[in-house]
Amino acid sequence: MSELLLTNIGMLATPTGSSARRGAEQGQIQILRNAWVLISQGQIAQVGTGTPPAVSGAQVVDAGGKLVTPGLVDAHTHLIFGGWRQNELGMKLHGKSYLDIQNAGGGIQSTTNATRQATEEELTQKAAAALDEMMRFGTTTCEAKSGYGLALEHELKQLRAIRRLQEEHPMDVTATFMGAHLVPAEYKQDRAEYIRLVCEEMMPAVKEQGIAKFCDVFCEADTFTVEEARQILEAGLHHGLRPKIHADEIEAIGGSQLAGEIGAISAEHLIVCPPEGIASMAKGGVIACLLPATSFCLGSTYAPAREMVSAGVPVAMASDFNPGSCPCLNLQLVINLGCLRYRLTPEEVLTAVTLNAAAAIDMADRVGSVETGKQGDLVIWDAPDLDYICYRFGSNLVQTVIKKGRLV
Ligand code: NIG
Ligand code: FE
Repeated sequence: MSELLLTNIGMLATPTGSSARRGAEQGQIQILRNAWVLISQGQIAQVGTGTPPAVSGAQVVDAGGKLVTPGLVDAHTHLIFGGWRQNELGMKLHGKSYLDIQNAGGGIQSTTNATRQATEEELTQKAAAALDEMMRFGTTTCEAKSGYGLALEHELKQLRAIRRLQEEHPMDVTATFMGAHLVPAEYKQDRAEYIRLVCEEMMPAVKEQGIAKFCDVFCEADTFTVEEARQILEAGLHHGLRPKIHADEIEAIGGSQLAGEIGAISAEHLIVCPPEGIASMAKGGVIACLLPATSFCLGSTYAPAREMVSAGVPVAMASDFNPGSCPCLNLQLVINLGCLRYRLTPEEVLTAVTLNAAAAIDMADRVGSVETGKQGDLVIWDAPDLDYICYRFGSNLVQTVIKKGRLV
């Protein structure tokens, strides 16, 4: 099969390793100047500086002296949904909060209604278009959650759409089961029965069909309590699903502490994460998956990213692409906010959207860095160096995406 030789790289910026980097190591990345990368059979075969080797038959791509990084990894998306929610903008502008809108029948429930009405084919086509757009912004691997079906049939429909995308789209997509995104309207009077359905009917079906790797739960005031989240994530573990948790997005009710106690692979949002939550995550080896574009969209504060790095919690960053709290799939904006709002350095931010994001979805052995043996997923940027892509915002600075050694 094919070989691709990427030459004339002005700056190759990449974290290194195959696990999440924490503390001071999060900001220690490898920078090579005047570099080249050889990709063979979709995998990185060699990385070097100076004169590139002569490889007969290889497709040669000249990076034009520009910046090259690993393909970006979006470790948190709600990719599969029917409809949009632009109608909520007016309510927000009139002062209604995210939870006010949710409690008035908007929010996740209204997307659930639209998702239940959509066919698997419609959901797949719509998500494929979103994946195309994500790739144009430099994302080459992503996670996708269910959680807008909230009934056995519709949760499975969402997960089947993800499986089709795994088979048909060049993006690497990993699936998370999130039946516990909200108690749907028809179970509001009997939440215990809905939780039973999630744990005893949905999870066994998900396990049997092998269509998800992770289990996520929205642990928040007015959605799932800490004890309910614990019950759901423990049931997920029993069904072979590694735990993830939406925690401390709006109120700190104890989700980040729970993440540490049960050894979740990642905890997400963490906007109002208290010091004891950070300590628990550090102790439990949990990756903090921060979603700054959601803070931007909700008009809320920003997660204490610096404190997390200082405490030795590995920080990843992702888009949270969804039709409500973050209708944005552009990881370049996330990079900008990582520097300008979290005050992370460009090096820490690069690690957050590549290697640490890959670790948050258990893929750091395959993607997230430009090193021999990793998948040939790279971005050539219309930028001279790493600082430039962190500082410019509002433009798409991607010049070329290479996925498994092929130009996209
Ligand atoms: O991560 N917070 C819960 N879930 C999504 C939002 C879903 C929605 O508003 O539709 C999030 O922000
Ligand atoms: Fe989310």
